[in-house]
Amino acid sequence: MSQTLTLRRPDDWHLHLRDGAMLRAVLPESARHFARAIIMPNLVPPVVTSADARAYRDRIMAALPEGMEFTPLMTLYLTEQTDAHDVAAAHANGLISAVKLYPAGATTNSASGVRDFDKVRGVLDKMAEIGLPLCVHGEVTEPEIDIFDREAVFIDRVLDPVRRATPGLRVVMEHITTRDGVDYVRSNAQDLAATITTHHLVINRNHILVGGIKPHYYCLPVAKRETHRLALRRAATSGDARFFLGTDSAPHTDPNKESACGCAGCFTAPNTMSILAHVFEEEDALDRLEGFTSLNGPAFYGLPPNEARITLTKDDPVPYPDKIDTGDGPVSVFNPGYALHWRVD
Ligand code: NCD
Ligand code: ZN
Repeated sequence: MSQTLTLRRPDDWHLHLRDGAMLRAVLPESARHFARAIIMPNLVPPVVTSADARAYRDRIMAALPEGMEFTPLMTLYLTEQTDAHDVAAAHANGLISAVKLYPAGATTNSASGVRDFDKVRGVLDKMAEIGLPLCVHGEVTEPEIDIFDREAVFIDRVLDPVRRATPGLRVVMEHITTRDGVDYVRSNAQDLAATITTHHLVINRNHILVGGIKPHYYCLPVAKRETHRLALRRAATSGDARFFLGTDSAPHTDPNKESACGCAGCFTAPNTMSILAHVFEEEDALDRLEGFTSLNGPAFYGLPPNEARITLTKDDPVPYPDKIDTGDGPVSVFNPGYALHWRVD
């Protein structure tokens, strides 16, 4: 008899949908399984004002195929010019669910990010006052800091000081990749949570570098050594409500990934739920999958969990495409390196 698992419909608390032809191609891959997603604002140019966010939300809804239901939860890209009143108004009228902090230069399209935190003090204070979460890309960008240490150094040099200077600020450490990130979240009782991606539960840095360079496993923050992957798996499957899913599904076309200077990002939207069921089953934690994908995130954001349900069935290997076609070119789907058996019905 095949095994089934019914969950409240999941949400994705960190998603890149891009724009134009890419948006039209990737949006159905998320909307098929996820009810809502926190939409990253790192377009070119970035989504910095409430007017930008409204226009982007309209483009997302226009790209949604008939008959699909999906709610984009918009974010603003924090810059040194961000206007606290614009942020507060966008929050008050329900347009935005969070503000995104990219340290300048940390990742794809982050050149307009923050260099001097004194310049965003007014915005952060206002966010603490109104309870609007700050989603943080937690890596320092100083060239002398080794890329594998950038998350841990960010916690000490930036995140902890910013949180101490802004009491009440609600922070999501996004896509944590280290035991340091897990420990920092665990050591703070209040106002702090973390998202974990699907791919960081599956790959470590060997997957990227051993036996030839694998550009489709390269993302930021970059996957770390195995001890960190294991810490992430323990956190995700622990039932601790401070950890929840943010896929960071980040499509780039294959020519842009398979290049002398390849883009960072793993495209996991099509098979994320199958992979997560596989991971949680391996950890003997299938009963905790719903918390990770469908309950902990809404609780942190003060939203009700979804009423709709999805059912996964364990069966013969589940086919998924190697790549999807977009108007901009092919985009390879993340390959966990093993067959997937959990199918979303
Ligand atoms: C993201 C992208 O491509 O926009 N890439 C990635 O590797 N995750 C940017 C980001 O979230 O860092
Ligand atoms: Zn991202």
